[in-house]
Amino acid sequence: MKEEWTIKSVSPKKTAEIADKLGKLVKPNDIITLKGDLGAGKTTFTKSLAKALGVERTVNSPTFTIMKEYQGYLPFYHMDAYRIADELEDLGLDEYFESGGVTVIEWPEMIAEQLPEERLDIVIEYTGEDERLFYFIPTGDYYVTLIKEFMDYEHISN
Ligand SMILES: Nc1ncnc2c1ncn2[C@@H]1O[C@H](COP(=O)(O)OP(=O)(O)OP(=O)(O)O)[C@@H](O)[C@H]1O
Ligand SMILES: [Mg+2]
Repeated sequence: MKEEWTIKSVSPKKTAEIADKLGKLVKPNDIITLKGDLGAGKTTFTKSLAKALGVERTVNSPTFTIMKEYQGYLPFYHMDAYRIADELEDLGLDEYFESGGVTVIEWPEMIAEQLPEERLDIVIEYTGEDERLFYFIPTGDYYVTLIKEFMDYEHISN
């Protein structure tokens, strides 16, 4: 079974703090998926991660486009696969994944077949009005190291 790490968030502010810390550690070509029900906090997390990457424009869910591109210290790609009509249509995502930016994908289950095997999966579980559990599930040595570094990076207070 894959190893996973869990962090509890007790507020949107705490979620922002967690995302900010991860945003300060990610590197070019990193791929992060965010899974969770409607309103779990995927976009809330993405906004702070983008900010940590130096993106100044406001990040909103890309409702009418599959992918939105931002420029920070690195290119930042935000994908929301929720409304993808044909899961099997080849979206040519490798072009984004390998272009030196950081990619965050909401609703990755919609395009499971098109994701690279090595990536960081984050699952957000709703456990109360303001409370969420974050599960960090890395695949591949690189992402395991990234998550270990992230957990050590600084004490994340509860
Ligand atoms: N601990 C928390 N972490 C994140 N969001 C929280 C938390 N507590 C409450 N919230 C609220 O939950 C909502 C999360 O909305 P958000 O748009 O981020 O969800 P989402 O997962 O992107 O949903 P969708 O699938 O509809 O795009 C926000 O209104 C936010 O303020
Ligand atoms: Mg969203």
